Amino acid sequence: AAPTVRLLHGADMPQLGLGTSPMGNAQTERAVATAIEAGYRLIDTAEAYGNELGVGRGIRASGIAREELFITTKFDRHWHGRDLAAQGYQAGLDRLGLDYADLLLIHWPNPQLDRYVQAFQGLADLLDAGRLKAIGTSNFKPAHLDRIITETGVVPDVNQIQLSPAVTRDQSRAYHHKHGIVTESWSPLGGQGAAVLNQPVIIDIAKEIGRTPAQVILRWNIELGLVTIPKSSNPQRIHENINIFDFTLTPQQTAAITALDHGESTAVDSDKFGH
Ligand code: A2P
Repeated sequence: AAPTVRLLHGADMPQLGLGTSPMGNAQTERAVATAIEAGYRLIDTAEAYGNELGVGRGIRASGIAREELFITTKFDRHWHGRDLAAQGYQAGLDRLGLDYADLLLIHWPNPQLDRYVQAFQGLADLLDAGRLKAIGTSNFKPAHLDRIITETGVVPDVNQIQLSPAVTRDQSRAYHHKHGIVTESWSPLGGQGAAVLNQPVIIDIAKEIGRTPAQVILRWNIELGLVTIPKSSNPQRIHENINIFDFTLTPQQTAAITALDHGESTAVDSDKFGH
């Protein structure tokens, strides 16, 4: 099992979990059951992935006690509103077949809509009511976080962003660190095709320490204090990806990987971000 990090509102979040995008319900159900069997306790899903049903089925198939798990889901833009947030949360729970999630995230800021502050106020209400262990955002830039912190007085526990050795997101990580927000990496292996696994720097470190390139990248996330959610539908790779808690990287190896950054995330420029 993965070690945990303590979040601002007191919950303990596993540092490594299973990402589930893109996977349909049947594949998700198998992957979630396999991952829990392999020791995963954090599972990440979203309304937009269309696979919350599969996540719920995989959890039930695993037979594990609900309180052993840390389940994250996210809602879409049509729930951006203080009261709508509770409805969006409930709709997700109904699909998951659960009576609570540990962490609920606003999936994208959708700044053109300009309702993310109200949506976050709705998440803060749910936290106050004891219906969630933690609340947060996904794909928020520092300017978006500034607004929700200033206007609601509440700091999110987590901001989940695209982060890999190709997009190390130094400014976001520094901002999160300053405010006590935990950074969670989506597509830590660079997404489909996992191109970042072929970087010579990564391959050399992997050879040096007798690990796989994926394990080196995931361990780099741990050295940086991040939470990371590699996606895999393959049982062997699901096991490989959590087998990273019996070795470390040196500060030099960690720095060499961080130096691979070659620019901003593809998602930063998407229209869901706006400016
Ligand atoms: P698969 O599901 O067939 O394992 P990310 O989490 O960065 O979005 O990356 C996911 C991609 O990387 C998926 O295409 C996944 O494919 C692949 N992947 C996951 N784990 C590994 C691994 N240990 N080695 C190589 N590729 C992996």
